[in-house]
Amino acid sequence: MNRNLALEFVRVTEMAAIASARLMGRGDEKAADQAAVDAMRAMLDSVECNATVVIGEGERDEAPMLYIGEKVGSGNGPELEIALDPLEGTTVCATGGYNSISVMAIAEKGGLLNAPDTYMQKIACGPEGKGVIDIRDSAAENLKRLAEAKKCRVQDLTAVILDRPRHAELIQEVREAGARIQLIGDGDVSAAIATCNPNSGVDILFGTGGAPEGVIAAAALRCTGGDFQGILRPRNDEEIVRAKAMGVEDINKIFSIEELASGPVMFCATGVTEGNFLKGVQFKPWGAITHSMVMRSQSGTIRHISAEHHFDTKPRY
Ligand code: FBP
Repeated sequence: MNRNLALEFVRVTEMAAIASARLMGRGDEKAADQAAVDAMRAMLDSVECNATVVIGEGERDEAPMLYIGEKVGSGNGPELEIALDPLEGTTVCATGGYNSISVMAIAEKGGLLNAPDTYMQKIACGPEGKGVIDIRDSAAENLKRLAEAKKCRVQDLTAVILDRPRHAELIQEVREAGARIQLIGDGDVSAAIATCNPNSGVDILFGTGGAPEGVIAAAALRCTGGDFQGILRPRNDEEIVRAKAMGVEDINKIFSIEELASGPVMFCATGVTEGNFLKGVQFKPWGAITHSMVMRSQSGTIRHISAEHHFDTKPRY
């Protein structure tokens, strides 16, 4: 994959982030999401590629734009697959909370799992835990092995978990194991990436969240050298049928990071609201400042891009 495409794709998440950040704190999740979708869709066709959305806003009958299977890009250039979430953390943006981002993962054809819009049980950690974690084992066992790998005590580790009633037992188990916990309201893509950042204060992600977000997070962790495993957790028979229709033969399969995102992968994200590793969009009299992260699995390079967007010379969002 042409490495220069990474810079083209970050323009896309920048525009989606600016558009949705305008609606921060307005209490209108749908409007914030729609603004991000419209901006992302408009920008995508300026990228020189022939891409298919494999993770997007839903299936064709439920999403008019950025639906699964939609062709995006200029139509010329490499055949790519894109997993995107124009606004990851819609509630966060609508309430002006922390860590909403606009995000995309890009791979060559066949590189990303076509995950249905269901749940996924996930475990994620940074490079020190690669090959050490195992989603089949208890949280306590995983914490013990990660502590050994990181040469620290379990008490020194922090697990990040979505604050949901379904995680009551998991939270209890982590507490009993002695690790610290950071409960988050939303945004498990950011949380998974944070496990790879030694300054984030979090070491491991446990719990069940969106399956599409799982594929996006796995792509990010392929670039940062972390580890990720997931198991689809459908909520009903209809979701099982959908998953099978999308090619998932064994619904109980444990997906490794490489099975979720294989081959050369690019990842880019732009902060919408203030976050741990990406600042939110700041509006100025002349335009806006965005903060983005761009990564490639082939080189492992992680770029942080701060951009000043001047609205007198580019469309005003
Ligand atoms: P949205 O941006 O679609 O609102 O997703 C936010 C999120 O917190 C994800 O990060 C997470 O994977 C999922 O929702 C969890 O789902 P639920 O809110 O149903 O527990």
